[in-house]
Amino acid sequence: MSEEVLKQEKKPIIFSAIQPSGTITLGNYIGALKNWVTLQDDYDCIFAVADLHAITVRQEPATFRRHILEAYALLLACGIDTEKSPFFIQSHVHTHAELAWVLNCYTQFGELSRMTQFKDKSQKHADNVNVGLFAYPSLMAADILLYQADLVPVGADQKQHLELARNVAERFNGIYGNTFKIPDGYIPPVGARIMSLQDPTKKMSKSDENVNAWVAVLDKPEDIMRKFKRAVTDSEAVVKYGENKAGVNNLMGIYSAVTGKTNDEIEKEFEGKGYGDFKATVAEAVIEELRPIRERYEKFIADKAYLEEQYTKGAEFALRMSSRTLDKAMKKVGFIKKPRF
Ligand code: TYM
Repeated sequence: MSEEVLKQEKKPIIFSAIQPSGTITLGNYIGALKNWVTLQDDYDCIFAVADLHAITVRQEPATFRRHILEAYALLLACGIDTEKSPFFIQSHVHTHAELAWVLNCYTQFGELSRMTQFKDKSQKHADNVNVGLFAYPSLMAADILLYQADLVPVGADQKQHLELARNVAERFNGIYGNTFKIPDGYIPPVGARIMSLQDPTKKMSKSDENVNAWVAVLDKPEDIMRKFKRAVTDSEAVVKYGENKAGVNNLMGIYSAVTGKTNDEIEKEFEGKGYGDFKATVAEAVIEELRPIRERYEKFIADKAYLEEQYTKGAEFALRMSSRTLDKAMKKVGFIKKPRF
């Protein structure tokens, strides 16, 4: 194939997003962000800060505004390259909320009721089980389908939402003919589910009340070391992947995701050594992985003008691209073409 043809050949499209939760954890980083960064070379990637999703739980306005900007800066610091990958803030691109409404009308109450994240969150926020929390997966489906994404890199906890997006897209295509690309999940082989350091049967989540359960990407090195040293393991004192060793398995997963070493290599490295050594080495590897990110973050967050320039550029691109899909979907449903003002 000539170089010209190769250049013109379209790469598969990737879309993914993250909520501006205030604390982006090592789970988010290993399960999603680290992959986003490496996928940028081989795919046409589009990324977003999913701020509309975040108001499904109550947010304090000033803090929320700060968290959105911090999430944007942190993702740049992780290595999102806006020269390669359009990167925007979801609420800046109105097509997302519009398509979400349309998709709501093609999504069944029963299927949303089965979402485990809805069940968990409505238990956790029993005083605010709002309609947005319930319809959250339709908005996520809109995010993905608007860009005709081929692949969606996410951690294992988002698999069910992705499945719903596929089902809704197939249903819509079934009624109106081919409108949306059916997206596949890209769930990493290692690190798709980083567990709590205090209870390794539970997902690492910053909403855990025990701060020792999670590591934040921006945690100080001494805090990271302390949290790993306190990580719950077992009484066997052998670094080996296996059943009933959820704590050790999790630490091995983290170490493997950060260093690229296989489980066999890790087991050999720690043969005859205790958990103390193991935990400290994992902590060191994590500290070194996150150190440059923290440094870059400080630079980005201090430069509000640069951030604004980047998210404006991202939103312009996203609006243009997503409007094509939205217009197509609305036309198929039977809406009258929007007038130009
Ligand atoms: P969010 O913001 O909860 O998480 C962002 C990403 O981090 C992954 N993740 C984890 N991976 C491994 N181990 C963990 N402990 C862990 N915790 C979180 C998540 O799987 C996710 O990939 N609804 C989404 C955001 C979203 C989205 C989208 C994603 C909105 N629209 C469209 C993909 C496509 C969410 O709340 O992720």
